[in-house]
Amino acid sequence: MGRRIRPPVGVPFVKVPLLAFAALLIAGCTPGPQDALAPVGPVGVLESNLYNLIFWIAVVVFVIVEGLLVYTIYRYRRRGDDGMPRQTHGNTALELTWTIIPCLILIGIAVPTLTTIASAATVPPGGDTLNVQVYGHQWWWEFDYPAQKIVTADELHIPVGTKIALSVQSKDVIHSFWVPKLGGKIQAIPGRDNTMWFQADQVGEYYGQCYQLCGTSHANMRFRVFVQSKADFDKWVADQQAVPTKPTDAEAAKGAQVFSTGPCVACHTIAGTNANAKIGPDLTHFGSRTTIAGALLDNNPKNLAMWLHDPPGVKPGSLMPNYHLTDDQVNALVAYLESLK
Ligand code: CUA
Repeated sequence: MGRRIRPPVGVPFVKVPLLAFAALLIAGCTPGPQDALAPVGPVGVLESNLYNLIFWIAVVVFVIVEGLLVYTIYRYRRRGDDGMPRQTHGNTALELTWTIIPCLILIGIAVPTLTTIASAATVPPGGDTLNVQVYGHQWWWEFDYPAQKIVTADELHIPVGTKIALSVQSKDVIHSFWVPKLGGKIQAIPGRDNTMWFQADQVGEYYGQCYQLCGTSHANMRFRVFVQSKADFDKWVADQQAVPTKPTDAEAAKGAQVFSTGPCVACHTIAGTNANAKIGPDLTHFGSRTTIAGALLDNNPKNLAMWLHDPPGVKPGSLMPNYHLTDDQVNALVAYLESLK
């Protein structure tokens, strides 16, 4: 004598926004330049394998638990005036089972997690290794190559198929260094070197991002990794090691004058000039970079002029203030900085 169950009247109206929400969620899953599940090196592969293992364990647990729940709700639903069902208080066998199974699952996750953490932190022996010291700043990244004596900003160049040993630190607050397709992430902490390594197995340009909320322009603290053939990388190193020649172009020469006599020298370095401060990015080879302002904008004269006119207007909170430079000063600085290849 069971009664038919009718769905509540409101269901279709609930479904529409739910479906729209699900579609939005799925849209966020479209593979992009920061897709950690499409790795291009051994550390990225290790980390995405770990993710996949845990994901599929979670799927199995979800299906079993929700399946049992839905079955129980349906099978033991109230049918007519049955009265109160039999009441139970505890079931030792059942409770032991649902304690022991999750313990085994957690151990099954912990073992590969710990081995992955150890593998990602320590450079395996053998072969060439390139050492890079990474510093997080509000809001840009500094990359120092101690053996090559190169310092650059926001754009890390590395040779393909080579182990890159990274030592990551911060100059101010806590940041987090992450190149999703190559590996990471690791915290950049003031006064403490955290180490990790990665290797890129394909030439290309990879996107990185600060992953620790670090102030106003946290979301604007981006960087790029350029993976080059061994020959291209060696050429880049040689270019970066060269001291730029004095500008011959009249506008650029004027810009050099504005730079060396203005407030710029209080924060920046340009090799071969009087500018040797370490607060802002090293600009020695500024013109060779593809991006500016924490990899926020493409490096071109228009964007650079916009930046110089009002840095905090481009990157909110920027420690480089608005110096209210004249159009003439900005144009000369643009010509000079872009000449620094
Ligand atoms: Cu640096 Cu977020």
